[in-house]
Amino acid sequence: MTTATVSPNAAITTEAATALDARQAIAGRPLAAVTGAEIQAPLIAGGHVRYANLDYGASAPALSVVSAYLNEILPYYASVHRGAGYASQISTSVYENARSIVRDFVGGRPDDSVIFTRNTTDSLNLLAGCLPVADGRHAGDVLYLDIEHHANLLPWQGVPHRSIVAADTIAGTIEAVRAELEQGGVSLLAITGASNVTGEILPVRALATLAHQHGARIVVDAAQLAPHRRIDISADDVDYVAFSGHKLYAPFGAGVLVGRPDWLDAGVPHLAGGGAVKEARLDGVSWATGPARHEGGSPNVLGAATLARATQVIAGLDKDRWHAHESAIRSFLVEGLQDIDGVTVHQIFKDTNADTDTIGVVNFSVEGYDAGLVAAYLSAEHGVGLRDGRFCAHPLLKRLGLPSGSLRASFGLGSRLEDAERLLAGIAKLRRDGLGWDYVVDAGRWVPANDTRTYPHWAPNTPGTAGAAPCIDD
Ligand SMILES: Cc1ncc(COP(=O)(O)O)c(C=O)c1O
Repeated sequence: MTTATVSPNAAITTEAATALDARQAIAGRPLAAVTGAEIQAPLIAGGHVRYANLDYGASAPALSVVSAYLNEILPYYASVHRGAGYASQISTSVYENARSIVRDFVGGRPDDSVIFTRNTTDSLNLLAGCLPVADGRHAGDVLYLDIEHHANLLPWQGVPHRSIVAADTIAGTIEAVRAELEQGGVSLLAITGASNVTGEILPVRALATLAHQHGARIVVDAAQLAPHRRIDISADDVDYVAFSGHKLYAPFGAGVLVGRPDWLDAGVPHLAGGGAVKEARLDGVSWATGPARHEGGSPNVLGAATLARATQVIAGLDKDRWHAHESAIRSFLVEGLQDIDGVTVHQIFKDTNADTDTIGVVNFSVEGYDAGLVAAYLSAEHGVGLRDGRFCAHPLLKRLGLPSGSLRASFGLGSRLEDAERLLAGIAKLRRDGLGWDYVVDAGRWVPANDTRTYPHWAPNTPGTAGAAPCIDD
C-alpha cells in the first residue's frame, strides 16, 4: 500500500514514498507476537478482512509468550499460601515471585510493597484508603489535574482533595502544580503518566521533585504509560505506581500497586477477609501488614503470574526498536489524519513532541459525523476497531470542547503500519464518498441497520445486533 490510499487527491511524492518505505521497514510487522493478530472481522456488505485492532489503550491482546506461559502453569494452578501439596507450593512460589518480578519492572526500592489488585482503578482506590490520618483527620489533601481518567479522579473525591486545570503547555502545567503545592496542605499528588485521551506523557520526575519539595508524595497512574515506556520509580523518586495487566498484554484480571510500605501498612485493609489478618476474634481483628493486609480472599494467581511474565517480555525489548516501531505508526497516523480535510487531531498540550513525548494513542474527530457513527462505520465497513466516546475522562473532554466525545486509535507491540493505513483509508473514503451503509442508534450506540453478521458459534448473539453493545459508560 502507499499513501495514495490516504490522500487520494494528492500524488505521492518521491519524498513521501521514501518516508513510507522507512516506516514500513520499522513498523511493517508487529514487534511482538500477540494472540488474535489474524482474526477475521466480517464486513457489513459481505466478506471478511483481517481485524485491525486499534484499541490497545482499552485492553491490549495477550502476548503470545504470555498465553503460552499461562498454558504451562495452568496444570499447576492450586490454592496459594497455606496449601502443603505440590501444586499449591508451586502456585505459591509463582505468585510470590511475581511480586519481585513486578518490583524489578518498575525499578522499585527493596522495601516497596507490591500489592496485586484487580486493575488500576482498584489500586488507586486501595491507596485512597491508606492516606495518612492524624487525630481522626486526613493529614492533607490529594491534588490532581483535570486531565485524569476517572480512575485517578473519583477515588480522591471521597477524601479531602483539590483539583486544578492543566495549562495548555507542560511547562505551564508544572507551574500550576507548583503554585498549588505552595499553598501547602497537600499530602499526595496524583498524576497520570500518559493521557489515555491523547497519549501525551507527563513529566513524572519533575512533578515528583516538586511534590517532595512541598512535603507531598506522588502516585503515578501508569495504566497507559507502562505498556509504552520504561518506568523507574527509584530513579524518578515516585512513591507509588499503579497499572493493569489487561493493558500490558496480560488480560487475565490482575492489576498492581507498588510503593512505599508505611502508608500501606497502616491503611484500611482494602478487602477484609481471609489471609489479611494476623489474628481474628469474634469481636475484633489484628490486621496483617505487607501485601497480605490488602489482598483478602483467594488471590488471582494466574493474573499476577501472567502480569509478571508480560513485564519480563517488555523489560527485554530493545528500547530504541520499541519506541521507533510505535513512533513510526503514530507519526504516520497523525500526518495522514491531518492531511484529510475535515479531520482534527486533538492534543492537550502545545509543547509536547509527537515523537518523543507521546505514546501510541491518537485522538481525533471527523467534521460532520458523530464519533460513535464513525467508529461503527470503521468497524462495519473496514474491519477497524477503535474507541469512541469520552474515554472515562469527562472533565478533560468537556474542556477540549468535545462534550459528546471523539475517536481514539491506540496501538502497541502487535500493531503494524497496515492497521493505520486501513484507518486512514476508511476516513479518507468517508470524507470523499460518505457512509456506504445505513446506521441507526440502538441501545445508545450507532450500529449498522439490518446487520445480519453473526458472532462465532460460542459467543451469544441475537441476529441483527452484532456490534450493538449496551452503552454503559463512555
Ligand atoms: C490512564 C488510565 N488510568 C486508569 C485506567 C483504569 O484502568 P482499569 O480499567 O484497568 O482499572 C485507565 C483505563 O483505561 C486509563 O487509561
